[in-house]
Amino acid sequence: MVAKLADLPGPWLQAFTDVPRHTFIPPLVWRQRRGVDGNDMHPLRRDEEPDEWLAVAYANHPVDTQVDDGRPAEDGTGHEVTSSASHPAVVADMLAALDAEPGMRVLEVGTGTGYNAALLAHRLGPENVVTVEVDPQVADQAKAALDATGFGKVTVVTADGTEGYRANAPYDRIIVTAGVTTIPHTWITQTVPGGRVVLPMTGTYQPPGILTLTVHQDGTARGRLGRPAAFMALRAQRVPRPRGRPIDTDTGAISSTDVHPYRIAGDRNAAVAIGMRVHGIHKHYAPTTDDTGTQWLLDPDTDSWAAIGLAPQPPYEVRQGGPRRLWDEVQTAYRWWVDQGQPDVGAWLFTVTPTGQRVELEPNGSSGNT
Ligand SMILES: C[S@@+](CC[C@H](N)C(=O)[O-])C[C@H]1O[C@@H](n2cnc3c(N)ncnc32)[C@H](O)[C@@H]1O
Repeated sequence: MVAKLADLPGPWLQAFTDVPRHTFIPPLVWRQRRGVDGNDMHPLRRDEEPDEWLAVAYANHPVDTQVDDGRPAEDGTGHEVTSSASHPAVVADMLAALDAEPGMRVLEVGTGTGYNAALLAHRLGPENVVTVEVDPQVADQAKAALDATGFGKVTVVTADGTEGYRANAPYDRIIVTAGVTTIPHTWITQTVPGGRVVLPMTGTYQPPGILTLTVHQDGTARGRLGRPAAFMALRAQRVPRPRGRPIDTDTGAISSTDVHPYRIAGDRNAAVAIGMRVHGIHKHYAPTTDDTGTQWLLDPDTDSWAAIGLAPQPPYEVRQGGPRRLWDEVQTAYRWWVDQGQPDVGAWLFTVTPTGQRVELEPNGSSGNT
């Protein structure tokens, strides 16, 4: 059985066809069901629901394979997904962005199930693939699946992948399969000049998506965003999502806006730009009908919130509480993006140097070649 995959590039099609995804999916996986207390991940067991389990294993969706770092609640439910087999279509696009060829040496950060490592091993040769996983139990499971599918020569390392893996460096390519907010310069120093680092940038308001960096001789790397993607964050860069709690909107300051908050959040180009300019704001849409509902903005660190009531026509009522005025910040960032000429996500140029990373608007074709 083969996962249904959109737009698979030719060179990887054989790997997707030959590597049996279900061998990498553990017998216990997790499904989301809305819960009242925020614990909304529920188990799905292969021995109890084998057909459902197999369907999940081969759907063109991510498969959640661990919750709460392997420590679900006593009632057997979970809150946060902490490991998964990524969305196959995203995996395919990231492999295409990696532009790796047989014989190239690749480091993967975030082994998870080991499925992506097996795809890499199928095309590049198992001896050319190193994969690093921070969670020992997850790493052991992946190692067993790689052994069982004939990819036992892949080097599976249990460690913090933000350090890369110096022992086998340098690599022609690094692929990161956990969300990144701060790009460790170590990844750049462990990649050969001219090599690539492909990673999912993440963020609270809007995950920017897949970033492809090219490494330069001077030890810097530059690159731009490609397809959208949402990944769980690297362990050390996690930002807990806000737990549901009642908010008394009557306590908020009342204003109104003509800007439709859901439409700007739903425009990726706008939302990525807003996400670059506001920090720590989570958004959540609670619809009541097709064109009414509430757009929530939350900052759990400062206990700030905003609730924007959606209606068929503007103006929309805004209520805000806490020390930050979250909607005002989002609206200001949105207006800034409009003033800049509504640039698309590809206009953001990311640069990583030994002293840090920066991102600036530098439309393709100007001086900002990567
Ligand atoms: C989306 S999953 C990876 C999917 C995987 N590539 C696959 O094919 O199944 C992300 C993985 O990254 C791991 N991870 C998180 N932080 C890490 C870190 N600092 N170093 C290495 N692995 C990390 C998580 O434990 C999780 O297993």
